[in-house]
Amino acid sequence: MNIIEVKDLSLAYEDGPRVLDGLSFTAEEGEALVFAGLSGSGKTTLCSCLCGILPRTEAVAFSGSVTVDGVDIPHAPLHECAQHIALVFQNPDDQLVCTAVEDELAFGLENLCVPPEEIRRRVDGTMAEFGLSGMALSDPAKLSGGQKKLVTIASTLILGPRVIVLDEPMTGLDAESRELVLNAVKRLLERGCTVVAVEHDLSLAPYADRILYLRDGKLHDKP
Ligand SMILES: Nc1ncnc2c1ncn2[C@@H]1O[C@H](COP(=O)(O)OP(=O)(O)OP(=O)(O)O)[C@@H](O)[C@H]1O
Ligand SMILES: [Mg+2]
Repeated sequence: MNIIEVKDLSLAYEDGPRVLDGLSFTAEEGEALVFAGLSGSGKTTLCSCLCGILPRTEAVAFSGSVTVDGVDIPHAPLHECAQHIALVFQNPDDQLVCTAVEDELAFGLENLCVPPEEIRRRVDGTMAEFGLSGMALSDPAKLSGGQKKLVTIASTLILGPRVIVLDEPMTGLDAESRELVLNAVKRLLERGCTVVAVEHDLSLAPYADRILYLRDGKLHDKP
């Protein structure tokens, strides 16, 4: 079953050229897709369209359709989109909202009304998994860029999404942190999660079922 269906997706920012120009692709449940492209090729724009941030939040010329898990993403309420597809932002500062790491990890679960004892169990387990236990009470805003990135990835993965979009997940991470993220993505795929990652350097390529290259607003099979 196709859990993601994108058809003829085009987008131009106000008074700008087309950044996405008639993209079409599908992903089956449990597949891992990697989109590679140079800086400015439209990777973050594509992530924003998949999760419904665009066209909602900006005046853009948008056409085409994006369906995730049966949800018509451009037209469904944003909170409904968020129940079907989760995004780890390229810039962690756009995502972090709490003043303690453990609260950041608990935040999404609290919104989903998960019982407190279950939240505690999952937060402790995820902090251990990502090597964050020693900074449970630290303010995410005061962490390094790489540590912030780990916190945003952990706080998204803890929700157990069926579809996850990772915008440059490895950027700014040292070798040890990259290994933690790779292992977490591997476990997600083992659980049947569908993963879409956009990146410059193909770090997640070993796990990809397909690699697509974004260039001149279009998708290509080859670099
Ligand atoms: N909010 C915006 N308003 C106007 N133009 C934008 C906006 N966001 C992005 N762009 C432009 O759209 C193009 C694609 O940007 P986008 O951020 O999607 O690329 P990217 O592939 O994610 O780049 P990077 O690898 O540097 O993160 C760029 O030319 C950029 O300047
Ligand atoms: Mg980007």
